[in-house]
Amino acid sequence: MMMSDTPTRNHKLIAWVNEAVKLCKPDAVHWCTGSQEENDKLCKLLVENGTFIKLNEKKRPNSYLCRSDPGDVARVEDRTFICSSHRDDAGPTNNWVDPAEMKDKLKKMFAGCMRGRVMYVIPFSMGPLGSNIARIGVEITDSLYVVVNMRIMTRIGEGVLKVLGDEGNFIPCMHSVGMPLPSGGQDVTWPCNLDNRYIVHFPEEREIWSYGSGYGGNALLGKKCLALRIASVMAKDEGWLAEHMLILGLESPEGEKTYIAAAFPSACGKTNLAMIIPPEGFNGWKVWTVGDDIAWIKPGEDGKLHAINPEAGYFGVAPGTSDKTNPMAMRSVERNAIFTNVALTDDGDVWWEDMTEVLPDHLIDWKGQDWTPGCGRKAAHPNARFTAPAHQCPCIDPAWEDPKGVPIDAFIYGGRLSTTFPLVIEAFDWDNGVYMAATMGSEATAAADGQAAVRRDPMAMLPFCGYNMGDYWAHWLSLGKNLKVQPKMFRVNWFRKDKDGHYIWPGFGENMRVLKWVLDRVHGRIDAIESPYGYLPKFDDICWKGLEGRDQESFAQIITVNNNEILQEAQAQAELFDTFKNRLPKGIVFQRDQLIKRLSN
Ligand code: GTP
Ligand code: SPV
Ligand code: MN
Repeated sequence: MMMSDTPTRNHKLIAWVNEAVKLCKPDAVHWCTGSQEENDKLCKLLVENGTFIKLNEKKRPNSYLCRSDPGDVARVEDRTFICSSHRDDAGPTNNWVDPAEMKDKLKKMFAGCMRGRVMYVIPFSMGPLGSNIARIGVEITDSLYVVVNMRIMTRIGEGVLKVLGDEGNFIPCMHSVGMPLPSGGQDVTWPCNLDNRYIVHFPEEREIWSYGSGYGGNALLGKKCLALRIASVMAKDEGWLAEHMLILGLESPEGEKTYIAAAFPSACGKTNLAMIIPPEGFNGWKVWTVGDDIAWIKPGEDGKLHAINPEAGYFGVAPGTSDKTNPMAMRSVERNAIFTNVALTDDGDVWWEDMTEVLPDHLIDWKGQDWTPGCGRKAAHPNARFTAPAHQCPCIDPAWEDPKGVPIDAFIYGGRLSTTFPLVIEAFDWDNGVYMAATMGSEATAAADGQAAVRRDPMAMLPFCGYNMGDYWAHWLSLGKNLKVQPKMFRVNWFRKDKDGHYIWPGFGENMRVLKWVLDRVHGRIDAIESPYGYLPKFDDICWKGLEGRDQESFAQIITVNNNEILQEAQAQAELFDTFKNRLPKGIVFQRDQLIKRLSN
């Protein structure tokens, strides 16, 4: 076995890597330095293996297309486990297996799993290198795709080992595609093990083991596994929050800057909102992006909450992204980007659904097959993604790497709901906002038109909370109590439909109109209409400039609530709450009781 020189004297790390080598039996071990030179070499290897296709250097410099196995295209929530000692500590919303039993199973699966492959060791930092809120992880993987993606999504390599030092602690993240190569055997372009996927978290040991998948959150372990599932547990123990939220700064023409954080379920518009372009009527306004997917939020010395983006890149949904819907994302992926499961154009560039109004005459689709406009197949997979460095976003906030984080004045929660829920509503107070967020729902995005199968996705954290969701709500309630300044809480819904199934609200840049109302409320500039469900905007307090020709009547409709519908919704929440038994916080029960009382009067 070849072992490159060990670039660290950290005992825990060396011992762990040695153990992993003994278990996985790779042909060689490579410690990632993170250098450009190393990256060029690894990308060349990926091209040679057929995993990467280099894109046209003139159109898309230093960028690659990758096609995954058609069965390995998204996170696998039913294969994701939280293995706490007690089942109740994982709670009713997580898959649970006894940790000893699971470790046993994993050790058997990992035994010899890297035969014929190289084991890559990737030291990475979530958060700016060396900042006191950053956390270090080390991912061991046999996937080159993972290495080059982790280099964009996190800070990796030598600098991280320096910060780790000889005694520093890290979160061990074991990953294998679960497909050893028989000697002399030919590799496939996307190795994986579809029948045997396990994304496993040990919240007490703070360890991650992932097997069988090479895609996104299943394999880039810094993202959902560390920065959300494990970090949420650390956050509860240490008095902070790890959330599935974008962070953005809004700057008025007068120079007043306000930061907000917003939680939406996967594929519900975080990246879009994080990079929003103000519409007509908002001359002089600027929007600054801090993060598009994950926020770590801590009480600061000033008694306010401060948020950082622990990531260094975007792993964004490609389909639907265009110069119209998200020009900042389009600019972010102009170079140094990796595209997974999008289509290839005849001139060596990428394409996906709704990227351009005019369809290309011919493409190679995400499965490598010829595609023409009328062929009846999608050119890109709906969960096709781009990986791009965060600093390439033209509106990246100057403070995006500030270790102190940015002060948060409002939290916004939203799902995809075609009925009942208004465009925007403000909670009465912190506890009421936590309740609103906890009962959030969203329609399955794949569900056919109008087939509104709503799943509860509390705080957009259903697949990402590493412990009992009831305890998580209690943590939110108690954290708020100790704040000197509580951010205001809002719920939004861009997705209300009319009876013909069309979105009523134009969305995207127009969402700025809602953000402006939020800011006016945060800064106490306007009052609002009190409803049993929360504060609603007065019609004239929303800036409609630029939308005058549109259907003002339906806009008026989507900023009101129907008490009967809300009452039905509140009653339906019993189904969620009952599963938590005695872990359901009294504060949440109280909020629901009060709402039902207000609605019944
Ligand atoms: P993850 O990366 O999966 O966590 O998702 P995300 O929340 O960042 O999702 P993203 O911003 O990539 O959302 C993509 C989908 O939401 C696309 O289908 C967009 O067209 C759609 N979308 C985003 N904003 C709006 C909006 O304001 N209105 C409507 N109707 N659709 C929107
Ligand atoms: C999500 O699913 O919320 C994502 C993509 O952000 S992944 O990293 O694959 O989880
Ligand atoms: Mn996400």
